[in-house]
Amino acid sequence: MNEVFSGTLNIVQTLSAILVFLLGIGLLSVIVMYIVDVNQTEHAIRRNFPVIGRFRYLFETLGEYFRQYFFAQDREEMPFNRAQRSWVYRAAKGIDNTVAFGSTRDLRPVGTLIFVNCPYPVLETDVAPTAALEIGPNARQPYVTDSLFNVSAMSYGAISKPAVLALSNGSRMAGIWMNTGEGGLSPYHLEGGADIVFQIGTAKYGVRNEDGGLDDEKLREVAGHDQVKMIELKLSQGAKPGKGGILPGAKVTDAIAKIRGIPAGEDSISPNRHPEIDSAEELLNMINHIRDVSGLPVGFKTVIGAYGWLEELFELILQRGIECAPDFITVDSGDGGTGAAPMSLMDNVGLPIRESLPIVVDRLNKYGLKGRIRVIASGKLITPAEATAALCVGADFINSARGFMFALGCIQALQCNKNTCPTGVTTHDKHLQRGLVVADKAERVAQYSKNMHKEIGIIAHSCGVDEPRKLRRFHCRMVQENGRSVPLDELYPDVTAPGKAA
Ligand SMILES: Cc1cc2nc3c(=O)[nH]c(=O)nc-3n(C[C@H](O)[C@H](O)[C@H](O)COP(=O)(O)O)c2cc1C
Ligand code: SF4
Repeated sequence: MNEVFSGTLNIVQTLSAILVFLLGIGLLSVIVMYIVDVNQTEHAIRRNFPVIGRFRYLFETLGEYFRQYFFAQDREEMPFNRAQRSWVYRAAKGIDNTVAFGSTRDLRPVGTLIFVNCPYPVLETDVAPTAALEIGPNARQPYVTDSLFNVSAMSYGAISKPAVLALSNGSRMAGIWMNTGEGGLSPYHLEGGADIVFQIGTAKYGVRNEDGGLDDEKLREVAGHDQVKMIELKLSQGAKPGKGGILPGAKVTDAIAKIRGIPAGEDSISPNRHPEIDSAEELLNMINHIRDVSGLPVGFKTVIGAYGWLEELFELILQRGIECAPDFITVDSGDGGTGAAPMSLMDNVGLPIRESLPIVVDRLNKYGLKGRIRVIASGKLITPAEATAALCVGADFINSARGFMFALGCIQALQCNKNTCPTGVTTHDKHLQRGLVVADKAERVAQYSKNMHKEIGIIAHSCGVDEPRKLRRFHCRMVQENGRSVPLDELYPDVTAPGKAA
């Protein structure tokens, strides 16, 4: 009896020892993983959520195999589906972006873009570099750039300090510009060394006087930085047309207050319109005033809803003289992004870029102003096909905000309006910001832009033109309700100025 008992005891002891050993190994592995995760610089989620964060990557990989059994298909999530985000992540990491076996894209839904390849594509040896374009020929310092795909407006405040630093460094590395957004010019924008487009929002942060109007002296100071190349007057943005903003006093830290030129700790209200701009006349006056004071090219950003005002503006430009024209127009899509906005404005106000871009380009052509006024398009143009279609329609440059947020590591957790962004992009929580390692993410920003440029070029060459800006509307078709595609020049017939050849 005793022998049986002692035998059982031995087995139990051995099993316990094995269990303790395994638990020890498990614990040790968790500790090692924790240390590795906290100290590695590549993955924000693992850095901020050591060990647990690994499950995201595991599920992402397993998703390849199991996705068909779950709800979210490859191309279903909004605002950006998994296929789009994965393309950006891979482009930003500089890893192979080819896919195997065949397209997972259903080419039948209305709105699908199809480019028309040429039987004689451009030989790789004949490919031309993207030509540099001049913006603001009448400004004292015109801006000449060969960049095609740039960083759209996002203010320091809406995005974090490391995010601004990674964007400014990455933009310098890729040779593209970065827009400050309406929150003023911070030292972090300048630190990276990129070309800067300074945005003046309705609160005129960074260049405001005590009454909230434009302070010419401060404007001169901002424009005096060599890196600041252009000025963008923001009339509206796609996500919240006609809406100002409130920056709660708690968020107006000493640093933010200094950069924006407002008292620290007090709520700061942005009006929902520039109080001094209520007509085409006043818009032109403001643009010319800013250009005179700064010496830089000046344009405006808007989302298009009503568009009769464009004709009025262009007529006035022709009356006053072409030199008084804005140097560029940034056309933002009704479904553009933001840090925070009311859902009704986000969802239902302002035209999407596919409709608004031809409206603007056609009117510029009609008045013979295309070329004098450059067109910058933005709004979900985060993958090569969407951006290329905008170039076909007549955009000169593409801007992206959320594409670059993905390059910074954003996982579309949709918490940008809280202070809890898990990847450190839109939070001021120091612990979460730790996940965003500037040097690593700057590299990704640069690679994303370069790979976008490269793949836009691949589409252009397949269509038979040696550089992307030579693409025309007939190079791109859009699938219609009857399942057949129609070329964009049929959907949006090209308009030319009277007396000018197409
Ligand atoms: C976090 C965030 C902050 C933004 N801040 C500004 C801003 O300060 N000024 C502005 O004109 N647009 C702002 N935008 C809009 C973007 O510049 C851009 O026009 C819009 O998101 C469309 O581009 P996307 O689809 O590539 O994001 C912001 C967007 C995001 C996501
Ligand atoms: S909160 Fe989510 S959507 Fe916003 S930046 Fe962070 S990860 Fe991206």
